[in-house]
Amino acid sequence: MSFLSQTLARVKPSSTIAMTNLAREMAAEGRDIVSLSAGEPDFDTPLHIRETAKAAIDAGHTRYTAVDGIPELKQAVADKFRRENGLDYAPQQITVGTGGKQILYNALMATLNPGDEVIIPAPYWVSYPDMVTLGGGTPVIIAAGIDSGYRITPEQLESAITPRTKWVILNSPSNPTGAGYGETEMRGLTDVLLRHPHVWVLADDIYEHLVYDDFRFVTPAQVEPRLIERTLTMNGVSKAYAMTGWRIGYGAGPVELIRAMANVQSQSTSNPCSISQYAALAALTGPQDYITESRAVFQRRRDLVVAGLNQCEGIDCPVPQGAFYVYPSIARLIGRTTPEGTTITDDRSFAMELLNATGVAVVFGEAFGLSPHFRISYAASDAQLSDAIARIRGFCGSLRPEP
Ligand SMILES: Cc1ncc(COP(=O)(O)O)c(C=O)c1O
Repeated sequence: MSFLSQTLARVKPSSTIAMTNLAREMAAEGRDIVSLSAGEPDFDTPLHIRETAKAAIDAGHTRYTAVDGIPELKQAVADKFRRENGLDYAPQQITVGTGGKQILYNALMATLNPGDEVIIPAPYWVSYPDMVTLGGGTPVIIAAGIDSGYRITPEQLESAITPRTKWVILNSPSNPTGAGYGETEMRGLTDVLLRHPHVWVLADDIYEHLVYDDFRFVTPAQVEPRLIERTLTMNGVSKAYAMTGWRIGYGAGPVELIRAMANVQSQSTSNPCSISQYAALAALTGPQDYITESRAVFQRRRDLVVAGLNQCEGIDCPVPQGAFYVYPSIARLIGRTTPEGTTITDDRSFAMELLNATGVAVVFGEAFGLSPHFRISYAASDAQLSDAIARIRGFCGSLRPEP
């Protein structure tokens, strides 16, 4: 019998991290690599946030804190929810963890029992199904393809709900598609959820501030306040303030859930990094110019990437509403062969051949539960993006129909 747990045998390592590592190794070997696989802003954390963190060290904020966050940060999070989302949460309804990832993990660990089902729309963020599995639950995947704008319909949600459904995870704007649910679309889903009082909502709002054109971000409990008693609204500073390495995320929900999550955290990591908490406090309470500036840059890059990809033979790339990802289809390339004679059988072989032939690292759609697609993270410089697009165009143009 294996030394490792049986649960772990069902959990896959993250494919996004695997592709990023492969690209890194190839670069270390001297290959000319453009990596568009990682999901993090390529900007530095704003100066005032860095300065606050340095001052926090000098002020001695270097010890254990309350397990799920210093009171000042909880208050700042409550203020943020009121100011930006119209949501009224008291500080005891707020929890702070080591990244949004820990918030999601805590929530699932604190609530799942064997046989509990968690509805996850695909394409999904790679960690959701594996976290559910780790927690002993069963992921129930509903697919939203390119034709529905990568958004599930109320009918799909309705038919996926069973008496065993515990949570539905909603991520808007989405990783990996960038698709966002506007108010009307979100209301379609919340109307369904109102009819099923045993189902809880896990709203992953981590890309809230990265929305483009006239898209207006909404979160489920804001659209349907009657859901607030069974919603965990999760967010964090990683993507909004270029703070991925600082590891601060937060969530808000009913007190009983928040206490249970703190209990899980108290037996794993204890408090998130004390210095990072002061940095996050500065992010939430200080000047917000970075958000507007980065949004403008990302929108420009999105337009560059979407236009470039749609000029590539066999690629169809819709325009996403938010985040910093595109999720084009390569359905028209399946069955074609490379000049070396390798057939593109699926999106995994597409990504591997693309990497080998051109040095461009993307993540294949299979990792996100919807094929045949691939994900590009356009959190890279304009020069890198233009270079990558030119290489992808060359690669697609070199593929030949099956003889
Ligand atoms: C959809 C989604 N949710 C949550 C996270 C977690 O972010 P963090 O743990 O850095 O706050 C990520 C990060 O990639 C993400 O893409």
